[in-house]
Amino acid sequence: MSGKVVLAYSGGLDTSVSINWIKEKYNMEVIAVLIDCGQPKDLKEARKRALDIGAIKSVIVDAKEEFLNDFIFPSIKANLKYEKKYPLATALARPLIVKKLVEIARKEGAKAVAHGCTAKGNDQVRFDVGIRSLAPDFKIIAPFREWSISREETIKYAKKCGIKINVTKKSPYSIDENLWGRSIECGALEDPWNEPPDDIYIWTKITKNSYESEYIEIGFQEGIPVSLNNENIPPAMIIKKLNELAGSYGIGRIDMVENRLIGIKSREIYESPAAEILIEAHRQLESLVLDRELIHYKYLLEEKMAELVYFGLWFTPLRKCLCAFIDESQKYVTGIIKIKLEYKNFIVEGRKSDYSLYDKELATYDRGDKFDPKNSESFIKIWGYPYELLGRRGRINGK
Ligand code: ARG
Repeated sequence: MSGKVVLAYSGGLDTSVSINWIKEKYNMEVIAVLIDCGQPKDLKEARKRALDIGAIKSVIVDAKEEFLNDFIFPSIKANLKYEKKYPLATALARPLIVKKLVEIARKEGAKAVAHGCTAKGNDQVRFDVGIRSLAPDFKIIAPFREWSISREETIKYAKKCGIKINVTKKSPYSIDENLWGRSIECGALEDPWNEPPDDIYIWTKITKNSYESEYIEIGFQEGIPVSLNNENIPPAMIIKKLNELAGSYGIGRIDMVENRLIGIKSREIYESPAAEILIEAHRQLESLVLDRELIHYKYLLEEKMAELVYFGLWFTPLRKCLCAFIDESQKYVTGIIKIKLEYKNFIVEGRKSDYSLYDKELATYDRGDKFDPKNSESFIKIWGYPYELLGRRGRINGK
């Protein structure tokens, strides 16, 4: 095979090695594409690296704005967490990366797209399904799936090809990051009983003292964060600031065993301070302004949507429909949430909104409320009829 292939390049070991391998195995010209989703990394240096290794072209695509608007905002609105814990940072960026790869491939006249995912992970699914949805005519090349090779062997191969590497035996982690979070795998973490070594934490490195705490206020407008401590600032900035500030308290560490799509359980560590805080704050604001039926129904859809994102089904009609529902639900999700940050923890301490459905005169236990207790008695009478009947017929206690 010859021609051009567009490679999703990160600058890391696996994708660097892939440039060489694709040239050797397929005799194709590699265009290395770096997609900027807000990862704190020197992409220019990585771009240069790709060219040094032998890519014919290397491009940096600034996708930060799109990542924020089209992926992070919907996640906040949907309180998106896979298996109730993982805010999906890696999973959310994949469809955007795929979209950009396909766009560049079409522009460059390439008919193939390559990624550095292994055969055991979720990311290969997200890449493959995304590419096949957007460009069913493309060939997909996944060197690490075709070529079963250990990490040690990869390092050896890299050395043989003269590729400089910064993975040492001491730091064997596989890391992925973007504005929404940092995902860490491998090394000592592969034993779920092992406490994560402190050196894996970068975003949540604790620089505060354990007795320190502070209050912050986050303002939302129609489900989107728009202010921090009463100052209107761009949402991307709010996320960055929260990552730094909450991170310095050690807030936002997630340690979990999760179910991958391909059936393997894996132990994962995430650092997502801003995502943790914004989703909890947003959820608490919804509790104040949305009615019970909508909240309860939305919970169900949120879980479904998190699963779709995790399973690589972003480009699907169901995901679009879910987003439309969730958007509609956000009309009144405007207000302010007060949060206390403390050592490795945060607590929502207050909430207010012009659209609050909280009625103190109904809720209070003080005298002078406007709630008529007789109504409760009548309501419960009717509500409980079916069960009273079952009780009378002796069908509640297993008869
Ligand atoms: N388990 C997560 C997911 O499937 C994160 C994968 C992260 N990849 C990595 N290279 N650490 O979304």
